[in-house]
Amino acid sequence: MSGGRFITFEGGEGVGKSTQARMLAEMLQARGRSVLLTREPGGTKGAEAIRALLLDTQYDWDANAEALLFAAARSDHVTHAIGPALDAGKWVVCDRFIDSSRAYQAGGDDLSDDAILSLHTIGSYALMPDVTFLLYANGEDVAQRLEARDGDTPDRIGGKSAEYHAKVGQRFRDLAAMDPERFVLIDASGSPDAVHQRIVQAMAPMLGESG
Ligand code: TYD
Repeated sequence: MSGGRFITFEGGEGVGKSTQARMLAEMLQARGRSVLLTREPGGTKGAEAIRALLLDTQYDWDANAEALLFAAARSDHVTHAIGPALDAGKWVVCDRFIDSSRAYQAGGDDLSDDAILSLHTIGSYALMPDVTFLLYANGEDVAQRLEARDGDTPDRIGGKSAEYHAKVGQRFRDLAAMDPERFVLIDASGSPDAVHQRIVQAMAPMLGESG
């Protein structure tokens, strides 16, 4: 796969990833790039069907089943959407990808990172993003956003314990520290426009601009 660029957004719940992914996609389009804006779990018909299974609180998937379902959803997404878009030279902007499985299923649930990466090799040719924006915000901002978005009914994974989400957050930070070439940490506090400006600045070298 060559030609296009693959950009992912990662972070915990309620840090504003979806808004920022959309704003970046719009900015790239305005600058003449052909863009696929997509999300995980989901992005294709099959993967959206798996998403519904994963997030529905009526199911009690254990950590292994959960990791397999995320990997299956991702495989369909890479095969039918992300891969073809990159092959066609598009810029793919994806709201969550493999690092979410590494942080949630490995970091939160104690599966090994190697196991998650093996599933990724089997399902998705071990495809990695060119750049990953890791958004972080303080607990109060996040709680407000989640309240506005989910009310009292978080999905099956959003509703896991505070301890689980703390482990997820720590694993995201560890992954970023291990791969500083790919990860860009973005302070997600402030208005959506302010956060977008931080991302635009970080994108400047990739866009062939000085900043
Ligand atoms: P979503 O509504 O997209 O969450 P958010 O808006 O916070 O990004 O739901 C996706 C949920 O699935 C979220 O709790 C993170 C979780 N998830 C994993 O546990 N592993 C994964 O590989 C992915 C892609 C998501």
